[in-house]
Amino acid sequence: MMRAWVNRLAEAGRLLTVERAVDPRFELAAVTKRAQEAGNRPILFRNVKGTQLEVVTNLFADGERLRRLVPVEEGPFAAAYASMLDAAEARVEPPTREAPAPEDLRQGQLPDLPLITYHERDAGPYFTAAIVLALDPDTGVPNLSFHRAMYVGPGELRLRLGDSHDLAGYQRRAEEAGRDLPAALLIGVTPPVFFAAGTHLPPGVSEYALAAELAGQPVEVYPGACASLPVPTTAEIVVEGRILPGERRPEGPFGEVLGYYVPEGLNHVMEVDGVSYRSDAIFHSLLCGSREDLALLEAVNAARVYRDLNRRLPGIVDVSCAPAFMNTTVQIRPQYAGHARDVMDVVFDSHADYNQLCCVVEEDVDLHDMNAVIHAFITRGRVDTRTRIMEGRKGFYRDTQDDFAGRVGLDATRPFGREDEFVVKEVPGLDAVRLEDYLTREPDG
Ligand SMILES: Cc1cc2nc3c(=O)[nH]c(=O)nc-3n(C[C@H](O)[C@H](O)[C@H](O)COP(=O)(O)O)c2cc1C
Repeated sequence: MMRAWVNRLAEAGRLLTVERAVDPRFELAAVTKRAQEAGNRPILFRNVKGTQLEVVTNLFADGERLRRLVPVEEGPFAAAYASMLDAAEARVEPPTREAPAPEDLRQGQLPDLPLITYHERDAGPYFTAAIVLALDPDTGVPNLSFHRAMYVGPGELRLRLGDSHDLAGYQRRAEEAGRDLPAALLIGVTPPVFFAAGTHLPPGVSEYALAAELAGQPVEVYPGACASLPVPTTAEIVVEGRILPGERRPEGPFGEVLGYYVPEGLNHVMEVDGVSYRSDAIFHSLLCGSREDLALLEAVNAARVYRDLNRRLPGIVDVSCAPAFMNTTVQIRPQYAGHARDVMDVVFDSHADYNQLCCVVEEDVDLHDMNAVIHAFITRGRVDTRTRIMEGRKGFYRDTQDDFAGRVGLDATRPFGREDEFVVKEVPGLDAVRLEDYLTREPDG
């Protein structure tokens, strides 16, 4: 599956290929970072030391292309993706269909996989594009979510679950009952599964329902070898095991999404019972905090906020979480004085971890361009009365000391009822001007 996709990228001339032997300790990440400076094309490492598997990275880094991977209609992505969330929640048909396990699946062990160490102070190799599949211990509803996994040895991984995530809730309930939580790491999946795993859905709704809506058909799954978890037939690599109850061991430091090292902490332990991969499996590596990480978080977070806003307020046009998912810019058609303030309230309530900054603009401002957003804020009225500060609201999930707490809102709309005083200036005839009709060409040299 991944092989066919990588081949298509190569045929389209989009794939960068590294044939040279590359060290998984730092060198692979360094080459990735250097290539990212020059653009966001996917990179295939064909010869990574210590493993037979090829490694692809930067696969979903191009936000524009990423969004095109899901079959949403024309128009703003946030609105279209929000309607996919509605469809997933309302879905009555089964989201998965049982199928035989892939014939070319072979059994292996963790050290067969590329063990990539990314940053100087990282505690060890990490799986950064691993999607954790687990079933609700009470209802059996499958959940898919990304959680980085630290490699400790052939039989053990350590995971950071994050308190607010569904997987953390599943594990808590299993732990209260004194039981292991069976889990499988999926590495290398199709775009619908990738998107769904990055999306937050309400309790009781499986990410498989969203993946099925995005794919336009049920996700084909087979019962995993160790705990019969429903594993997608398209997954390249599957690591099966159990998250242990009442067990926490040191994990980290790790250089994660915000660009800093998360210090070592006591985190969850996964005992590994089996590793399997396709005969031509390609391992997916993801540089945390790069565009590949942020583009997905921005897209899905914007859709969730759009949906929350649209359910409660009029005049919502679009939402963007550029240039990073901790910011949310909302484009509105102002309906009344104080409209932007109400928007901020909904945004701040939309997710406990994100939306630290909320900017509100009108339709004439490019909401994906933070320079334009800030320009509107500082030129369209008083900055003091249109800044909203909320103290003491919980922040990013890894925060233990309120370092990311609080919220700031910037109202960059024009004062309601005084729009005429802020008409954006225009030069008549600009569109018709072609410079070559006017400029005298200087002789070369
Ligand atoms: C590439 C990527 C890596 C992520 N890594 C982690 C992680 O290591 N720990 C974590 O708690 N959340 C991580 N997240 C965030 C969650 O997995 C993600 O937001 C997911 O939607 C949560 O699912 P849930 O709402 O079903 O709990 C990551 C997200 C992405 C896109």
